[in-house]
Amino acid sequence: MSEKTAMAIRKMIDYNSPDLRRINHALKVFGFASAIGVEEGLNAKELEILEAAAVFHDIGIHKAEEIYNCASGDYQQKLGPDVARPQLLELGYSLEQVEEICYLIGHHHTYTIKDNPLLQMLIEADFIVNIDEKDFPEGTDYKKIRDKIFITKTGKKFINSLIIEIEN
Ligand SMILES: [Fe+2]
Repeated sequence: MSEKTAMAIRKMIDYNSPDLRRINHALKVFGFASAIGVEEGLNAKELEILEAAAVFHDIGIHKAEEIYNCASGDYQQKLGPDVARPQLLELGYSLEQVEEICYLIGHHHTYTIKDNPLLQMLIEADFIVNIDEKDFPEGTDYKKIRDKIFITKTGKKFINSLIIEIEN
């Protein structure tokens, strides 16, 4: 990870502290997103965008809970970019990078967009972690989720290992 990504992680931790659950969630999504990005052949610039988006993807949750008393994906997407933007600018990301990162944050629950590779990788990483964190109701058909949502070879490989673990 770049020094900037490390600073982004520190900022995210400071912002979410003492909510360790959210901090851990963001770190896990970051880890999977980064691994998917590297294995799928992203260049350093693309990886930096994806990693920052993964670190900050749920940054709107606290605001959503505060304003709407609800942490649903829609509210997170809506509020996340405005919470992330000043923090990203402070970290030294360029305006262009900030807009790209905010776009990913603002669409990470919009599963109908299939033509943005970085968004796809972020969505897959978030799904993998949400499955691990048992965010889905009992009886969920994870294979159906995989076939509907997952596109990258690496993301599919990761979700397959989770499905095997769940089914055994
Ligand atoms: Fe998430």
